[in-house]
Amino acid sequence: MKIYDVKINGITNPMGFLYDRLICSWKVESSAAKRQEYAKVEISQSPDFITLVYKKEGRELNGIGEELILQLSPYTRYYIQITVAGDNRETAVSDIYYFETAKLQEPWSAKWIGLANEDCFHPELNKSFTLKKQVISARLYITGLGVFEASVNDRKAGNEYLAPFVNDYETCVQYMTYDVTNLLKEDNELTILLGNGWYKGRLGAEGKKEIFGSRFAAIAELRIEYEDGQIEVIETDESWNYRASAIEESDIYDGEIINECLWADNENPWKPAVALAAFEKKLSERYSLPVLEKESINVQEVTYTPKGETVLDMGQNFAGFLIFKSRLLKGTRVVLDYGEVLQNGNFYKENYRSAKSRFVYIADGSEKIVRPHFTFFGFRYVRISGWVGEIKADDFIGKAVYSDLTRTGYIKSSNEKFNRLYENTVWGLKSNFLDMPTDCPQRDERLGWTGDAQVFSAAASYHMDTRAFFDKYLRDLRYVQERNGGKVPWYLPCLQPEDTCSVWGDAATIIPTMLYRYYGNAEALRNHYPLMKEWVDYIHREDEKRGLKNLFDFGFHFGDWLALDGSTKQSVIGGTDSHFIASVYYYASAKMTAEAAGILGYYENEVQYGQLAKEIKEAIFMEYFSPNGRITIDTQTAYLAALKFGIYKEKQRIIDGLKQRFKKDCYRIKGGFVGATMMCTVLADHGMEDLAYDLLFYEGFPGWLHCVNLGATTIWERWNSVLDDGSISGTGMNSLNHYAYGAVMEFAYRHIAGIQELAPGFKKALIAPKPNIKLDYVKCSYDSAAGRFVSNWQIHKDGRNHIHVEIPFGAGAVLRLPYSRVKDLELEAGRYDYEYMPEKDLTHLFTEESRMEDILKHPEAREIFLDKNPEAAKRLTEWNEEDYAMTLPELKWKVFLGADPDQVQATLDAILMIKNDRHQ
Ligand code: BGC
Repeated sequence: MKIYDVKINGITNPMGFLYDRLICSWKVESSAAKRQEYAKVEISQSPDFITLVYKKEGRELNGIGEELILQLSPYTRYYIQITVAGDNRETAVSDIYYFETAKLQEPWSAKWIGLANEDCFHPELNKSFTLKKQVISARLYITGLGVFEASVNDRKAGNEYLAPFVNDYETCVQYMTYDVTNLLKEDNELTILLGNGWYKGRLGAEGKKEIFGSRFAAIAELRIEYEDGQIEVIETDESWNYRASAIEESDIYDGEIINECLWADNENPWKPAVALAAFEKKLSERYSLPVLEKESINVQEVTYTPKGETVLDMGQNFAGFLIFKSRLLKGTRVVLDYGEVLQNGNFYKENYRSAKSRFVYIADGSEKIVRPHFTFFGFRYVRISGWVGEIKADDFIGKAVYSDLTRTGYIKSSNEKFNRLYENTVWGLKSNFLDMPTDCPQRDERLGWTGDAQVFSAAASYHMDTRAFFDKYLRDLRYVQERNGGKVPWYLPCLQPEDTCSVWGDAATIIPTMLYRYYGNAEALRNHYPLMKEWVDYIHREDEKRGLKNLFDFGFHFGDWLALDGSTKQSVIGGTDSHFIASVYYYASAKMTAEAAGILGYYENEVQYGQLAKEIKEAIFMEYFSPNGRITIDTQTAYLAALKFGIYKEKQRIIDGLKQRFKKDCYRIKGGFVGATMMCTVLADHGMEDLAYDLLFYEGFPGWLHCVNLGATTIWERWNSVLDDGSISGTGMNSLNHYAYGAVMEFAYRHIAGIQELAPGFKKALIAPKPNIKLDYVKCSYDSAAGRFVSNWQIHKDGRNHIHVEIPFGAGAVLRLPYSRVKDLELEAGRYDYEYMPEKDLTHLFTEESRMEDILKHPEAREIFLDKNPEAAKRLTEWNEEDYAMTLPELKWKVFLGADPDQVQATLDAILMIKNDRHQ
């Protein structure tokens, strides 16, 4: 038995975080025991645990999250150890973990410092000091605006980038805590470099600068504890000096210029720092996860383009930057331009719009590792100019930079294209979870759009442990909401407080609900309850103002953004009535708020919001349903949203309507940010998994694998971001790294592998895999809050299913063997294997429902068709999309297409015999 993943508030060994609650979680693996007999959390201020400051024990202790109630002292490290005993006498004691407090309520003695008014260069602030005694520990409490990097004796303090990240600057700025004990010597230099970042660089559609502030500023306290117990604090004040750094420019969108020769011919004197007395920024302990160099990526190819340029191909689109070792001669100017697609083999970045996305380095002749400090790029290709000598692939290394999330989900299947798509969705997350969930990491946008985050949040939380990451995002959303009368902004950091709309704003209820379902912690839900409730209250109030209709049928909405059934091919707003969608989400938000209230014991609210939800549903029925229960809006998205949120009088009517709609749409995806992102999951939730598989595995336009076929290594903003000939379809709004449609992986985890939560935090799971002939096998593991579940399946040549399932210690599962008459099995922790002949035939490729387009794509089936239907075959060239969407039984009666019923029947009989030819 082994205990792993011990976390506080979803973070491993947090240093100097904001702890408004202390929720401790852990998991158990490699145990023969099924259940917990006893568990214990011990906390001590010393790693020997001789004296405890806190202890919680008992049979019921819950590893998915135990709240610890203890009075915290500032500047203190608390060590945690977990003990678990199983029902078979096995016990395990965890490694020692810790969490550390920062200043808590202690006042800052340091002052905000900055530059004299006339200086507008990128500064380095500096302080020299000498230490006479033996240091036991040293902590740097620090922040800088817009973004900072600190170093002690030229070595970086902490290992994170772009701190203090994105803040709700009107409310507070986060400060960081770094352990710098090992960086100190007798004579020391403490240096703070400052860059523009989100705070004072360019941000938002209008490209404005200095939106949140115009001054560089820093505040720091270096707290040193000596061997004799004495404490000394080195703090920012007028005794610090500053001068211009080598960073000539920095910007999130535009990149960075480091000019090591900037001051070669000019004076760059040290000047005394200015105390910024009037500078009032509330400081908060950090609540952002660290942003780290999480992965190194080697250059795949050095290419020379038709234009004669040198371009590095990283083989993968991601967010971060390149680093390189400079041995360049003094004055050499190297320019790295970042782009995500080549056009006609040439470097290209028009779709980055106004973002320069460029790194410039001017060498001073010394040998050093070069990297940007205050920017990041979304890219796959890098054009290098100005490099002297031949460029070798290993001269550069890519660094993927994102928030320090723990990976939890893995899926691998027999289909390489599916596997690539799966990886693309993981890269969508990695590239866009840089402190906040952004729409894209490359163009002049990179904003924390609420709609994108909302639709992707469930898939994301299978891929990775998102607790702390989304907690941060929701906290900032709440800060904005609090001063805007309940409105939830379009995106963070908030530049347009007046703007709000449905689906995007419903991130306020959907993400907290998802967090509770996935991570099972009611106290975390309590933190986000005001955000949920006040969003619903806001809509309600606005509705009342114009005479209560219990509908959200007013105001602007993005609706089914980018759906393909809009008025024209270019329309960004889809064909589904936006006010219907808004009202459905209003209902869903009221319902989720009622449920959260119930969980939290706010029973009056539970009743109140439950009642509101009922009234909204009735109003939706009145406005958008026929008296007999047909939805009057006949679009994929309308049916899907009604099914997802349970808005129907008779479910089967909606299902029938949806099936009809898909047929009318020739089985092509029409839905957008609302419809397409939920499509496969909702279909499979309602017994239509075969259609979900068809859509997911469709290789033409529009479809997920279509993008894979065109070489995508991430998820695109549009199904046709790149056209079949490799040219980009437009530059106005066209990102090749937009995670939203990656939401489809929720279907892969929940249905293909079939791991769903039955109880909060996956303490109990439903394992209901759905094998399909499109795949031979699937392997999935999901390290849930309750521990690691495994669901693997394989279809044998003879059609037998092999199902392998693993349930973690302390959890339970209901196993629903797919396509079997066996009743649901109640399983406890352990490993299980089943082999059986399913009721559904999984060996033959075609059924009576197979559509002509699939039949004609399969060589043998095509042969049969052409051979048996000579007349119909001649007219194939005249077929339109609708004809390809036909089944053989439907073709039978199409005399005008040259069909002969007997020949078609003979074709069907023969085709039904074709076996899966991919088999092992
Ligand atoms: C973003 C989206 C976002 C949308 C809102 C776009 O510019 O990239 O992903 O949700 O605007 O309509």
